[in-house]
Amino acid sequence: MASVNQLVYRSIASSGFQSDDMVSLMSSCKKNNPALEITGMLVYNDGIFLQMIEGDALSISKLYNKISLDPRHGDLKILWSGRADERTFPHWSMAFKDMSTVCDRVLAEHADIINRIFEIDEYEISKGYKLFKALGATL
Ligand SMILES: Cc1cc2nc3c(=O)[nH]c(=O)nc-3n(C[C@H](O)[C@H](O)[C@H](O)COP(=O)(O)O)c2cc1C
Repeated sequence: MASVNQLVYRSIASSGFQSDDMVSLMSSCKKNNPALEITGMLVYNDGIFLQMIEGDALSISKLYNKISLDPRHGDLKILWSGRADERTFPHWSMAFKDMSTVCDRVLAEHADIINRIFEIDEYEISKGYKLFKALGATL
């Protein structure tokens, strides 16, 4: 099975960013990502973005460079970058989840990682993966 590159980062939404702004942001993802064979998931949690981008290394690096210049967020920090055996979100050009719509059970199960998203590092990325997978299962 061909492996895939993945990159996970978090960022802070700019002041003035509103949930309405999510609509045009997601339409860019749907428009651009298929041609790059990029898949992934974007999570929004009360002013914080957490995004997993997966695809080939060049496409990821081009897209991440573009995203990092976007004035709608700042203070980007890459939490993990590496290879995985397979895509986590093979069917999503970019899945989206607003944490305010997530049920209490999933929130409680992943409270540890959700509350410390700014502190997680590569040693804890497996918890981040579990969160992505749990959120993906709710879509
Ligand atoms: C948190 C965040 C995540 C984004 N994710 C993507 C993405 O996955 N794909 C994408 O094309 N643009 C994404 N964007 C938007 C890009 O920064 C950029 O505005 C967009 O790609 C421009 O599209 P265009 O060149 O078609 O005008 C994201 C922006 C933010 C703030």
